[in-house]
Amino acid sequence: MALKKAEPPSDDRRWKMINATMRRHGYHRSALIEVLHTVQDVFGYLENEALAYVAESLRLPPSVVYGVATFYHFFTLKPKGEHACVVCTGTACYIKGAGDIIEAVKENYGIEPGETSEDGRFSLLTARCVGACSLAPAVVYDGEVAGYQSPEDVINTIGEWTENDA
Ligand code: FES
Repeated sequence: MALKKAEPPSDDRRWKMINATMRRHGYHRSALIEVLHTVQDVFGYLENEALAYVAESLRLPPSVVYGVATFYHFFTLKPKGEHACVVCTGTACYIKGAGDIIEAVKENYGIEPGETSEDGRFSLLTARCVGACSLAPAVVYDGEVAGYQSPEDVINTIGEWTENDA
């Protein structure tokens, strides 16, 4: 009897990209590390919700998935900042100026991808493709994908976080 497949948490296209990796490996448990790489590529870090979904899909105990996610240094868990700004640096976004966006954040806040602002308000991360290439350059603000972002747009959004969240 075929087992019921886990339902993706939302209709966000990024879940489809994660599903594609799992399907390619026949939903086999041995694909866990590869699937986690895909999660990180599309989300910029390993979201708790994504870890739970992967565990359910591959029929692994969540503790095993969390264990692997925390063991390997190349995986990034949920960032420490109150907000997360994930800049897509995939080819389409890079060509359209993702590098300038990262430079602008660096200049304004003095942080590199993977770091959190001194006041803890936001973390800057990068992803390899967030599934919105036609909207390049794309940036994901607290899980919401935004397209056609200029460095000014990004600085303004981060400014709203850092100024209004007192
Ligand atoms: S490369 Fe950025 S969304 Fe695909």
